[in-house]
Amino acid sequence: MRRMVAETRLHPADLILPAFIREGVGEPVPIAAMPGVVQHTRDSLKKAAAEAVEAGVSGIMLFGVPEDGNKDAQGTAGTDPEGILQVALRDVRAEVGDDLLVMSDLCLDEFTDHGHCGVLDAEGRVDNDATLERYAEMAQVQADAGAHIVGPSGMMDGQIGVIRDALDQIGREDVAILAYTAKYSSAFYGPFREAVASSLRGDRKTYQQDPANWRESLRELELDLAEGADMVMVKPAGPYLDILARVADAVDLPVAAYQISGEYSMIEAAAEKGWIERDRAIFETLTGIKRAGARNILTYWATEVAQKLR
Ligand code: PBG
Repeated sequence: MRRMVAETRLHPADLILPAFIREGVGEPVPIAAMPGVVQHTRDSLKKAAAEAVEAGVSGIMLFGVPEDGNKDAQGTAGTDPEGILQVALRDVRAEVGDDLLVMSDLCLDEFTDHGHCGVLDAEGRVDNDATLERYAEMAQVQADAGAHIVGPSGMMDGQIGVIRDALDQIGREDVAILAYTAKYSSAFYGPFREAVASSLRGDRKTYQQDPANWRESLRELELDLAEGADMVMVKPAGPYLDILARVADAVDLPVAAYQISGEYSMIEAAAEKGWIERDRAIFETLTGIKRAGARNILTYWATEVAQKLR
């Protein structure tokens, strides 16, 4: 009877798999802080994408991890057509065609030697408007490399409008924008720092949101809608279900939520210690995120959960 009357059901197509591609490695590199997740080689990434298709996952979100020597202050590797993320986008598109939505993280932090999501001004502060120019170029390069959807995650003001214009300018109205609308400055990004070999010292409080606030999320939402977002996202997911519910109520676009690295690793760590039932905990968190209003969920468990749902 519970099954019959359940209000919330997970489906493989709800799920999007975030994946890391690392430049210059011959074998996948395990991420210690995220047991079960690796930095992929080009080959292992193609395999992971094929597996995701097979399981019925609807998308893959790619993050590039360049070699240390390829990081600089401008994040040049992020706009180099031969940069690792662009190489991976082409690889994955060649592998999956249109059977899986190929998405790209559109942000400079993986490519800058200072680790910030934007370029810096003379005082070492993130320069919002100079960063927008870099994002415009990045969007075009990612579209050329095969991204169906770009995911701007840097939280610069005006980023959605600039990216929409840049894509339209090169005739790529078909590339959609998944806007990181409400992205909070969170401790739960911790394990991601290892995943992308981040160079960041300090924090992102000048451009990510304050966990204490919800009103600015609705303001960010209005701006993203006006600037041309096709889908909007709340991130992290678990500690921000109230934000997710408000955003989902306020908008008629698809709403996504990102169950981030720390949310993943907490469950894996507690399960490893035998303190929690792993699979139940995973399904409970995903069900909660969907119940709160997410149409789609980015989760490192996407393929595994989709396989179990089948
Ligand atoms: C920025 C970005 C981050 C994540 C996704 N995109 C890191 C940050 O904002 O500090 C975090 C994802 C996760 O923790 O799983 N490019």
